[in-house]
Amino acid sequence: MPILGVNIDHVATLRQARRGAEPDPVRAAHEAELGGADCITVHLREDRRHIVDDDVARLRPFVNVKLNLEMAATDEMVRIARQVRPHMATLVPEGRQEITTEGGLDVAGQTERMKDVVAALKDAGMTVSAFIEHDARQIEASAACGFDACEIHTGPYAHAFAAAGGDFLHEGLRRQRDAVADGGIRIMKAGMRFHAGHGLNYHNVGPVASMEGLAELHIGHAIVSRAVYVGLRSAVREMVGAIAAGRA
Ligand code: PXP
Repeated sequence: MPILGVNIDHVATLRQARRGAEPDPVRAAHEAELGGADCITVHLREDRRHIVDDDVARLRPFVNVKLNLEMAATDEMVRIARQVRPHMATLVPEGRQEITTEGGLDVAGQTERMKDVVAALKDAGMTVSAFIEHDARQIEASAACGFDACEIHTGPYAHAFAAAGGDFLHEGLRRQRDAVADGGIRIMKAGMRFHAGHGLNYHNVGPVASMEGLAELHIGHAIVSRAVYVGLRSAVREMVGAIAAGRA
C-alpha cells in the first residue's frame, strides 16, 4: 500500500485568516498521525501565506512520521531546508498569483540549477522529490539531476475524473489515468520512487492508489475539507480506507 502524506497547509490558511494562534498546524499534524498519516507535508511559500518558518521549526521535532517540506528551488528555501532537515524535500514551481501549485516543475529547462539544489539538499540528509508532469523529458531530466523520487501531478487526472463523472469508459479519463500510470513505470525504470498527488479526493484516489509500484500519495485539500465535518483524525482515517479500497 502506498504511504499517505497529508498536506496540512490549509490548517495554517485558516489560522492566517485571523493572524492568530488557532488552528495550529502542529496540533493538526498530531491528529493526522493519529488518523493514520504516514507523512506530514507543509509548503513553506516565499510569501508565507499559510505555513510560516516557526511552524516548520516546531513540526520538525514534533512529527513522529516522515516530514516532507514542499519548497521552491530558491537559495532562501535551500538554506531553511538545510537548517530544519526534514526527511524529504519536494521541489515545486511557485507562482505568486497562483492559488495552489499549478503545473509541474520544469526540471529539464534548468538542469544545472536543479543538480546543485538536489546535491545541497541530499548533502543535508534529505531525500529529494520533483513534482512534475507525466512527461518523459521531465522524468529523464529528474533522474539525471539526482532526484530520488518524482511526484506526478495528478491535477489533469482529477479534472478528467470530474468531467467524466468517474466513468472510466470515458476516453479522456482513461487517457489521463494511463498517462499517470505510464509515467510511474518510467520513473521506476529510471531508478526513482513513484509518488503522486494533487487534486486527489475520496472518489478519485482509488484508481491511482492501485497503480503498480506507487510508493506515496500526497493529499491535502480533500482531507482538510472533510475534516471540517468529521475532524481531521477521522478524515485521514477515511482516506486511508479509500486508498485500501482502491487497492482491493
Ligand atoms: N503535492 C504537491 C506537490 C502539492 O503542491 C500539493 C498542493 O499543495 C499537493 C500534493 C496536494 O494537493 P491537494 O491539496 O489538491 O490534495
